[in-house]
Amino acid sequence: MDDMGERVLREIEEAKTLAGLDQLRLKYLGKKGEITALLKTVGSLPKEERPGFGAKVNALREVIETRLREKTASLEREALEEKVRQEVVDVTLPGNLPQVGSLHPLTKALREIVGIFYGMGFTVYESREAETDEMNFVKLNLEPGHPARDAQDTLYLTDTTLLRTHTSPGQIRGMLEMQGRLPVRFIVPGRVYRRDPMDASHSPVFHQVEGLVIDRHITFEHLKGCFLEFARGFFGPDTEIRLRPSYFPFTEPSAEIDVSCTICRGKGCQVCGRTGWLELSGAGMAHPRVIRNGGYDPDEVTGFAFGFGLDRAAMLKWGIDDLRVLFENDLRFLTQFEGL
Ligand code: PHE
Repeated sequence: MDDMGERVLREIEEAKTLAGLDQLRLKYLGKKGEITALLKTVGSLPKEERPGFGAKVNALREVIETRLREKTASLEREALEEKVRQEVVDVTLPGNLPQVGSLHPLTKALREIVGIFYGMGFTVYESREAETDEMNFVKLNLEPGHPARDAQDTLYLTDTTLLRTHTSPGQIRGMLEMQGRLPVRFIVPGRVYRRDPMDASHSPVFHQVEGLVIDRHITFEHLKGCFLEFARGFFGPDTEIRLRPSYFPFTEPSAEIDVSCTICRGKGCQVCGRTGWLELSGAGMAHPRVIRNGGYDPDEVTGFAFGFGLDRAAMLKWGIDDLRVLFENDLRFLTQFEGL
């Protein structure tokens, strides 16, 4: 029995798991356990040997029970310590960086443009995209049947309403909102729509930036100086502009404004067709009738207006040769503008 005692205590000592301890408990103290079996033999012993034997077995059982309890407690403590060790959080490890988006190049371009015009005292007037035929055409000197309407293939919503074909109706709405106060000096950025199929240089929706200045004694010189300031701020300080005679029903006289080629800096390359110049904007002196339609007296005030494509300006600034990439949301393109 002494041998057995040693063996049991060694087995308990060597047990590695709580499950292992349970098995030992069963093996010795369970219903069919070895100690239990020993106790059952007491009855078959000679009377005088019974008390001594019984006491011995009971003492052994108590020792085994005590050691089992102690070992259980120590295994549980080890398990807990291990758990704590494993679950510890290293707060100095680098975190998982969330994917951060960036501004769309058109948004970037517009913010720069707005910043430049703020610097010249302009405000931003946001007009509407669904317009009346009256505002989009008639108030701008384009009567029904006017041949210049053909230049802008129009998306009509009803017989009298349409998606604006240019930001120029913003001139009228912006002036009316100023209620005769001077100076009028705002830009109108926004989406415009034309019934054009999509290709590398056309899209049924694109963006324009309109500009309007109305005040006493405004001359063509102001238009030139203002646009040059913008062009140099946006395309770079060595940019030049030139004005060519043109025609718009709502400006008189009218001009096309070219900027020196942003790729070859005016020397002549493929992009500018070897002319050194890129066409960017329509412009001119506000037509007297337009001034009157905005609630001002053309005998008292004069003004200038311009309107250019925001998409085209962004393409020229960053050397983008296909308009479609601005509308396709392809991350391979968009991520190139991160941090710009
Ligand atoms: N609205 C004209 C266009 O879309 C551009 C323009 C604006 C011309 C203002 C002159 C003055 O082509």
